[in-house]
Amino acid sequence: MNTKPTDSSGISFTALYTGAVWHRNGLSDDSLITAQGRWLYSLMSPFEAASKTVAGGNLRTFLLQRHLIIDHLIEQAVAERGVTQVLEIACGLSPRGIRLRRQFPQLHMVESDLPDMAARKAAKLAASGHLSPQHQVTPIDILAEDGEQTLEAVIERVFDAHGPIVVVTEGLSNYFALEVISDFWRRLAAILAKRPGSVYLTDSYLLPSQPVIRGGINVLRRMLGGMTHSQVTIHFDSDAEAARHMSRLGFADVDIHNPRQFYGQLPIPKSRNEPLVRVIEARGPASEKA
Ligand SMILES: C[S@@+](CC[C@H](N)C(=O)[O-])C[C@H]1O[C@@H](n2cnc3c(N)ncnc32)[C@H](O)[C@@H]1O
Repeated sequence: MNTKPTDSSGISFTALYTGAVWHRNGLSDDSLITAQGRWLYSLMSPFEAASKTVAGGNLRTFLLQRHLIIDHLIEQAVAERGVTQVLEIACGLSPRGIRLRRQFPQLHMVESDLPDMAARKAAKLAASGHLSPQHQVTPIDILAEDGEQTLEAVIERVFDAHGPIVVVTEGLSNYFALEVISDFWRRLAAILAKRPGSVYLTDSYLLPSQPVIRGGINVLRRMLGGMTHSQVTIHFDSDAEAARHMSRLGFADVDIHNPRQFYGQLPIPKSRNEPLVRVIEARGPASEKA
């Protein structure tokens, strides 16, 4: 039986919460804040405070860790390896595009999301004067297998034919079962293989060994799955397993980044225990220039 979901729009409201977290932490632009995001931020505050006390970290801890590590890895690709094309899939209300375009005016930034969220983001960027041929928003559906919203069609439509690209998905992959998101990853690996020097960045999670925290996370995972009508899944038991899986799907080279590596180097919050989030950096073949 084919259990692949065809509509994942139930996930979209979570972008309002993450958007509010970016804004509260001085990472966003006033044009991207929403009333619903502010409301969700207040609603979640007691739960976030309790998690921090009990577990030594909370959702906001790992959101900031992953967001700033992904930014750092994009900056490396742009500043040190000369990549000039960035595609942020499932952009939601992420302010990353605005910040990157300010930092790197040569960058061609493309944000993409399901059609409703993409339209919402485009309207906000247009109203604040950020939209331009160098900073676009376009609809995508990572589950689509044909038509204008497929991964393949979007990349062909927005970027040059052969140059390296950075592709980001933040806060997306864990809403899907491993076999579903692996289909998307396999297709992406095939595209990056034809564009030497390209890189894919995404977040991933590990379950803690401590039984009470582990149980709490499993409850949270099921609640979030129910609220978003999705299959929230922790995909890997270890960093080595994550790296092996991505390599098997066709990525040439994979690094798994633990926030600990960046304590003191990036302005990220520290987890009291082992951080639960990782950033996967999966590269296509090296560019001949590198
Ligand atoms: C948790 S939010 C993350 C938003 C943003 N990346 C951030 O970190 O603030 C998840 C995003 O995934 C988008 N999304 C859900 N299903 C999708 C799909 N099939 N294709 C592309 N984006 C999708 C939602 O619309 C939403 O904006």
